[in-house]
Parts: sequence; structure tokens; C-alpha cells
Amino acid sequence: MDSFSFECVRIVFGCGSLERLSDEVKMLKGRRVAVVTDRALRETGEKVCEILNRSGLNCELWSGVTAEPEIDVVKEFVSQFDFDTVVGVGGGSTLDVAKLAAVTGKDGDPERLVGRDVSGRKAKLILVPTTAGTGSEVTKLAVFKIPGREVKYVFDSPSLYADVAIVDPVLTVSAPPEVTASSGIDAICHAIEAYTSRYASPISDVLAEKAIKTGSNALREAFANGDNLKARTGMSYAALLAGIAFNNAGTGLGHALGYAHSHIHNLPHGASVGVTMPYVLQYNAISDLKKHARIARLLGSNVRHTRDAAFQAGLEFANLLRDLNMPLKLSDLGAGEEDVSDIVERIFLSEKHVSRNPRTVRKEDMFELVRKAVYGLLSAENN
Ligand SMILES: [Fe+2]
Repeated sequence: MDSFSFECVRIVFGCGSLERLSDEVKMLKGRRVAVVTDRALRETGEKVCEILNRSGLNCELWSGVTAEPEIDVVKEFVSQFDFDTVVGVGGGSTLDVAKLAAVTGKDGDPERLVGRDVSGRKAKLILVPTTAGTGSEVTKLAVFKIPGREVKYVFDSPSLYADVAIVDPVLTVSAPPEVTASSGIDAICHAIEAYTSRYASPISDVLAEKAIKTGSNALREAFANGDNLKARTGMSYAALLAGIAFNNAGTGLGHALGYAHSHIHNLPHGASVGVTMPYVLQYNAISDLKKHARIARLLGSNVRHTRDAAFQAGLEFANLLRDLNMPLKLSDLGAGEEDVSDIVERIFLSEKHVSRNPRTVRKEDMFELVRKAVYGLLSAENN
């Protein structure tokens, strides 16, 4: 076994675990808590403040985060109050805002962190996800739109780790089916890409396998019935494991391609990565037949022969998309032949993702892959 290192934040998991928030703040010796969330979650934010107030902690709520925010939103948030602890409550974007706010502290300027090593922290950081998908609560990444830059900027630093992630599946129950599907598919892609990454380790493999199997079953059930708390719990657990796995092993071509065509249709992140994932699995299959056969079986295939099963992985993933009413090809989203070369070029803007992919990402192969993804050409064969 090769040597490896592995990182993970403190986690509190389970239905009702939000009630542990005050104890966690006190353990961190926090006194002035700033809770950040988005407008749609204002009520949840108020409930969080209530929990803190009940324990005698000072709490201020700010619900100004917008979808896929620009970095300015962090500045706006940290100018509001004096705080020693930040609690982020929401989806990936909100948790990313909380991460940068904990680094800059009151009146800090996050734009000064762009292009530099992010180090040190001004406040304690607690992250509470309300969707099962991004895994942001356990990663050291924060993704932002920066004015003047075409590709989103990724802050990557151990300073962005939460002091504790509180994962309460009850908070995900109100997510509508489309949000459940898109976030859930994002999590399963994280697991698949971490599993096949060049930087996968024995620990990330165990977590990724569990996430693919638990996640693909729980996601169908949670999509079918959002009130199914067992399914919600399974999906929150799978997203958490996938987050820990990809925080260590990284994601690959699946995400590079998902970003590369996202400007055409503006689908949510998970759906964007998901729609082209079957073709990525087919392309990558020969890089590790055993692992791709395992992915197919974890997704439900009972094909025995390893090579046949490996080429089944893309089809099994497409079946999952079909069950969730999600798109299966780019032509259904408005893309055509004229977009192929632009998408191919954009894949290579995500250099790190490309470098982690198990099969070398060659430009000439990408033309073929993207064309297949446009027209929905997917089979159980290597063609
Ligand atoms: Fe993702």
C-alpha cells in the first residue's frame, strides 16, 4: 500500500443534532455569534438564533446571501456586526461565505485574499448544511465569482476548515425534489470522481464506495418522497462521506466538463456535472476496469464480467438520472455541434481537475466525448 495522508474536520451528525449548536459554540469559547444564511432560509436562521439565545449567547442574523454569490457578499456580511464566531446555515454558497468571513473577521476585505495563500483565522467557524450535496461543510475549499474572471475562483486552504460541521438531516426535508436531485447527484459525482482520482487513497476509497451505494438508493427515495426521513438521513450521510473523500482525493473530468458547458444552460451545479457524467464514466472505464466495474455494481448492475461491468457504469449512472427526471444529453439543453469546440477548450481551463483524472485527458478524445454528450450516444461498449 502506498503511503498517504488524510484530513477530516470534527463532525456532529444526526437528526436533531442542530440542538447541539450552543454546546459547540461554548466549547469553542465563542461569545458573539454571527449567523449567515440566504433569504429563503431566514426562518431556519431565526430558529438557529433562538437556540443560541436560549443558552445565553449573543446572536445576530444576516440573510443576504444570493445564489452563486460574488465575493462582495462576504464584505457586506462582515461589515454588519462584531463577531468572534461565524455559523453558516445553508447550501454550498452560504457555507463558502461563512468560511471566508471567518478568515477576514469584522470589516475584512476578502478580495485581498485572491491570488494569495489564505492563512490564519479571525473567528471560529461552524457549518450547518441544509442540502445534501456540496460537502462544503467538510472541505477546505470556497468557490466564488470574482468580477473580471471568466472561471470561478477557488480558495483552497486549511484555514477554511470548519471547527465543527453539524449535519442535521431534518434541515434537508424542506428541499423541493429538483433541488434534492441536483444536490444529490453532485454528491454522487464527488464520490465517483474521488474514487477514480489519481490521488485516491484506501480511506477515501472506503468512504466513496459507501457514498455511491448509500447515496444512489437514498437519493431515489428522497426524490420520490421528501418527507422520508430515513432517505434524507441516508443522503446527508452519503453527501458527507463524499465530501470527506473528495476533499482528500479531489474531483476530475466530471467536474471539469460540468463547468465547461454550464454557461450554455445555467442548470444548477449538480445537474450540470451529472448530465455529462455517463460519458465521462465511459471514457474513463479503461483507466481502471475494476474500479469502474465496482461503480456499476454499487449503482445497481449485476453484470459479472469485469470489463462488461466497467462499461456498464455510464449506463447505470444514466438510469439514475432518468429516475430523477434529469437531462441525459446536452442537445436537450440547447447545445449543438457549434458548441463542441468551445466546450472542449473550456475543459482545459480546469487544470487541476484535468490533472487528477484517471485517464489522460487528450484534446482529440474530448471532441469525441463532447459530441457523444451532445447527441446522447451512450452504450455498454467501448465505442
Ligand atoms: Fe460538485
